[in-house]
Amino acid sequence: MLGKKKSLVGLDIGSNEVKAIELTQIGDQLKITGFGHAPILSKDGLKDTISEVFRRSGIKTKRVATAVSGRAVIVRYINMMKMADDELKSALRFEADKYIPFQVDEVVLDCTRLPDFGEPTSPDAEKEMKVLLVAVKQTLIEEHLQVIQSLGLTPTVIDVDTFALGNAFELSSMHSPRVEDEEKVFALVDVGSLKTNINIIKNNTSYFSREVYLAGNDFTEAIARRLGTDNAEAEKLKLNPQGKEEAIEESILPTLDDLGNEIHLSFDYYENQYDREVDEVFISGGSAKICGLKAAFERVFDRRVHGWDPTENLEVKSDRVDLQDMKDHSAQLSVAVGLASRILDR
Ligand SMILES: Nc1ncnc2c1ncn2[C@@H]1O[C@H](COP(=O)(O)OP(=O)(O)OP(=O)(O)O)[C@@H](O)[C@H]1O
Ligand SMILES: [Mg+2]
Repeated sequence: MLGKKKSLVGLDIGSNEVKAIELTQIGDQLKITGFGHAPILSKDGLKDTISEVFRRSGIKTKRVATAVSGRAVIVRYINMMKMADDELKSALRFEADKYIPFQVDEVVLDCTRLPDFGEPTSPDAEKEMKVLLVAVKQTLIEEHLQVIQSLGLTPTVIDVDTFALGNAFELSSMHSPRVEDEEKVFALVDVGSLKTNINIIKNNTSYFSREVYLAGNDFTEAIARRLGTDNAEAEKLKLNPQGKEEAIEESILPTLDDLGNEIHLSFDYYENQYDREVDEVFISGGSAKICGLKAAFERVFDRRVHGWDPTENLEVKSDRVDLQDMKDHSAQLSVAVGLASRILDR
């Protein structure tokens, strides 16, 4: 008998679209064995949309890794006195209320010690360590699990969007020259429909992250205001400008500048905290495809901005995957790929 194959589906339930990628470990390689996506037409129709994605893509694996995001998810990077890992969890339960806007018994808490960022800058800094604290409202997790389990799926991992983004970047960087310099600081920016995720990493560790509630829906609204259409018509024009490229680009420019400035504030904050600049920016998410975004960001950040494809180094091993459709959607797949990459955990 051949070695037993392991598969995991990264299921990204976005605000606008459900995206699923199935990764299978074959020998020592991860391969894409399934891909599907579908728009979410209403909150009530979410379960039907997920079922539709599984049915149409032919993905058979029931084991899924999913993510939560939004205001009920709190991520903090805090300084604590150095202590052993087993003491850290109990110490944090006592201190967590300093950092999160919810009652400690309302949330699921997780924490991990981060590798030292660089040489300590003072004797005091030498006694401290940086800790990543994640708190997710229990009710959000329960709601999320209810959706997944009611569809007969088995949740194996619940992650946070921003860390899945980091994991996808790590996977895609494994075969890329961009990781050769471990000191380089990259900002990953995922522009979705409701929100933009920012994750600043060095040597595959996240040292700062933030969600900004400015993204594709705001571009649509700006187009609707400018062209005097309703949002549905503006959304259609945004995806297929039909000769109105210039008017669309012009109408979203103020929103692009606002978003760029918000992201830039995060860079400033990070740079003040760590005394180290962000070197390069990598953009993803469906809205990163909009005309003028890359140029606007390069202007505001005064830094190189790159697009990237989280699937580019992964071989596809399935006749059912529509390769063209996957390429067209690649910008939107970073969270799904990052979630599925958690297959490497076990
Ligand atoms: N070619 C395109 N040009 C402009 N915008 C696009 C294009 N393709 C998709 N979008 C926009 O991308 C958004 C969807 O992207 P994505 O799937 O990354 O978001 P999401 O994960 O559903 O949302 P969020 O991350 O905010 O929860 C929508 O706002 C859509 O209008
Ligand atoms: Mg998203």
